[in-house]
Amino acid sequence: MSNHTPKPLTSAPSSGTQKRLSAATQAAEKIHAEKELFPDPRDDEDEEISVRPISAAMTYRLIGWLKPYLPLYFKGLLCGLVGLGCDLFTPLMARKIIDVGIPSRDVEVILGFAAIWAFLSIAAILLDAVQIDASNRCGERVIMDLRRAVFDHLQNLSMSFFDRTKLGRIITRGTSDMESLRGPVVSGINTVAFNFILMFGAGALILYTDWRLFLAVAWLAPVLTLANHLYREKIGVQHQITRQGYSRVASNLAENITGVRVVSAFHRQDVNLERFNELQEINTSNNIRSAHYSGIYQPFLEFIKFLGQVIILGYGGVLCLSGGPDRLSAGTVVAVFFLWDKFMNPTINMGNFYNQLMGAMASAERVFALLDLKPEVQDRPNAAPLPRLKGHIVFDGVTFGYDPARPVIHALSLDIEAGKTVALVGATGSGKSSTISLLARFYELQQGHIRVDGIDIRDATITSLHKQMGLVLQVNYLFSGTIMENIRYPVPETTDEQVYEAAKALDVHDLFTALPNGYNTTVGERGSQVSLGLRQLVCFTRILVANPSIFLLDEATSSIDTVTEMKVQTALEKIVKGRTTLIVAHRLSTIVKANCIVVLDQGRIIEKGTHSELLLKGGHYALMYDKFVSHQSADKKDEGPVLK
Ligand SMILES: Nc1ncnc2c1ncn2[C@@H]1O[C@H](COP(=O)(O)OP(=O)(O)O)[C@@H](O)[C@H]1O
Ligand SMILES: [Mg+2]
Repeated sequence: MSNHTPKPLTSAPSSGTQKRLSAATQAAEKIHAEKELFPDPRDDEDEEISVRPISAAMTYRLIGWLKPYLPLYFKGLLCGLVGLGCDLFTPLMARKIIDVGIPSRDVEVILGFAAIWAFLSIAAILLDAVQIDASNRCGERVIMDLRRAVFDHLQNLSMSFFDRTKLGRIITRGTSDMESLRGPVVSGINTVAFNFILMFGAGALILYTDWRLFLAVAWLAPVLTLANHLYREKIGVQHQITRQGYSRVASNLAENITGVRVVSAFHRQDVNLERFNELQEINTSNNIRSAHYSGIYQPFLEFIKFLGQVIILGYGGVLCLSGGPDRLSAGTVVAVFFLWDKFMNPTINMGNFYNQLMGAMASAERVFALLDLKPEVQDRPNAAPLPRLKGHIVFDGVTFGYDPARPVIHALSLDIEAGKTVALVGATGSGKSSTISLLARFYELQQGHIRVDGIDIRDATITSLHKQMGLVLQVNYLFSGTIMENIRYPVPETTDEQVYEAAKALDVHDLFTALPNGYNTTVGERGSQVSLGLRQLVCFTRILVANPSIFLLDEATSSIDTVTEMKVQTALEKIVKGRTTLIVAHRLSTIVKANCIVVLDQGRIIEKGTHSELLLKGGHYALMYDKFVSHQSADKKDEGPVLK
C-alpha cells in the first residue's frame, strides 16, 4: 500500500492503480437503484389482465393440460359417475322401507332395503374416494407441469421483460397463482361436473317421484339462478380487485426485501412501512368486501334450502291426507325430502367453490398470458449455430434504445480484432453496459449490425452465441451451492481435475483451497457468504473452464480488498490472452493495458486509441486521467475520483 501514484504502462500494477475511478458513479447508481426500488405503489400500473369471470376458453385450456393423464382421469371420472348414481338412488330405498316394509310389517323387506341402502352408500363413498384420489393425482401433475412450463418460459424470455416486470409479480406466477389454480385443477373439474350431474339427477328424480312436489319447489330454481348470477357478477369483479391488491402487497414486500440494504442506507424504513400499510389497508378492505358478498349469498342459499324443505313436508303432508288415486305416500314425501337435499347441497357447495374458481380463472389468465408471451429476442427461422469463432467483433452503425423511440446507443461503429482487448470507459449512463448487452444479444438492436467473424449475430442461434461468450456482469452472479458447482456451471461435465487446472492457471487454486471447506465451501444465496473479490475469481475460473473465444466483463464498481484485488488483476490478464475481450473498465490498471480504449459519452464514441495515444491527444480521456492522478495524490481514501 506504499504507492498511490499510478504507473501507467508499466507491468505490475501498484495497489494505487486499483482504486476505483468511480465514487460518484457509485453514488449515481445508488440513487438510480433507489428510484428502481421504491416506485410509488400508488402510481403502479395494474395487471395486464382485465376482469373476466369463469371463461370457457380458460377452462378448456386448463383441461388441455390434462391430456397426458387422461387414462387415469377417466378412470376417476367413471368411478365418480357410478358412485354418484349409487348416491342418487339411496332416497328411493327410504321410500320403499316406509311405503312397503312398514305397512306390511315385513322385517325382511325393511332390512333388505336398509341393506341395499347401506350397500349403495358404501359403494358411493368408496367410488368417490377412488375418484378423488385419481383427480388429485392428475391435478397435482398438471400443476407441476404448469409450474415447469412457467419456469422454462421465464428462462427464455428477453431481458426487456425482466426490465419492465416486477420481481414480485413474476414470482407470483410460479407461487400463489399456482396455489390458487391447485384447488380447482385438482378437484375442480370433477366437482363442477359432478355437482351439475347431481343437481340435474336429483331434480329429475323428484319429477319422476311426484310431479306436484316437483312443481312446488321448481319455482325456486330460477330464483337460485338469478341469485347465483348476481353473486357471480359482484364477486367476479371483487375477486379481480382483491387479487390485484394482494399482488401489490406481495410485490411491495418482495421489493423491500431485495432492497433491504438500500432501505436501511436511506433510512426509508418508516416511509416504506407506511406505504406497505397503505397497500395492506386496501387489501384488507377488499377482502372484507369479498367476504361480505359471500356472507349474504351463503345464508340466502341456506334459506332457500329450508324453504324447500318446509314446502315439501308441508305440502307433501297435505297431499298424503287427501283421499283418492292421487294420494301421496309418506315414503314419497321422505324420498323427495332427501332428494331436495341432494339438489341443494351441490348448489351451496358451488357457492363456496365459486370463490376458488374465480381466483383460479384470474390466475389461469395471468399464467397463460405469461406463457403466451413471445421472447422479443428469438432465433430467426434460418438461424444457424456458430462455428468456433476466432473472435473478430464488428459493431457497424449500431443504434439501440430500450425504448426504440429514445436511443441510448447512437450509430456506434467499432472493429475489434480477434484476440484484442477493448476497454469501454465513460460516465454512468454513457451506454457501456448496453453495448455489452447488445453483443450478448440480450436486446435486439434497432439499426446496424453486430458481426462476429463476419456473421451477423442475428443469423446465429442464441445458444451457440452464448456458448462462445464468457460473461461476467457487474453483479457477478453466483448461485447458492459450492464454489466447485459454481465453477462447473457452464460445463457441468467438467472434472474436478479440470477445475483445479483452470484455478491453477489463474493462480487462485491456493485461495480456494484455503477456504474453510476448500472447493466445497458454500457461497450462500447469490454468493453473499463469500467476498466480492472471491466471487469475481469464481466467475473468472468459470470462464476459463468454459473457454469461450469472446470475453465480456462489466467490472464491478465496488471495492475489493487489496490481496484479492491483486489476484483478480493477474487472473484477468491471464483470461484475456487468446480471447477477444470487451471490458467495461473502472480500474485504471485494466484500462491502461487494453489494446484500445473507447470513450463513450451518451451512447456515442468520442475517443478511441491506446492509453498513450489518448494521453498525447489531450482530450477527454487525458482529462479524466489527470483528475484521477491528482485525486490519487491528494486523497488517500478508498474511493477514487470520477471517470468523467
Ligand atoms: N434496462 C434498462 N431499461 C431502460 N433503460 C435503461 C436500461 N438500462 C440502462 N438504461 C439506460 O440506458 C442508458 C445507458 O445505460 P448503461 O448502458 O447502463 O450505461 P453504463 O453502463 O455506461 O452506466 C442510460 O440512460 C440508462 O438509464
Ligand atoms: Mg453499467
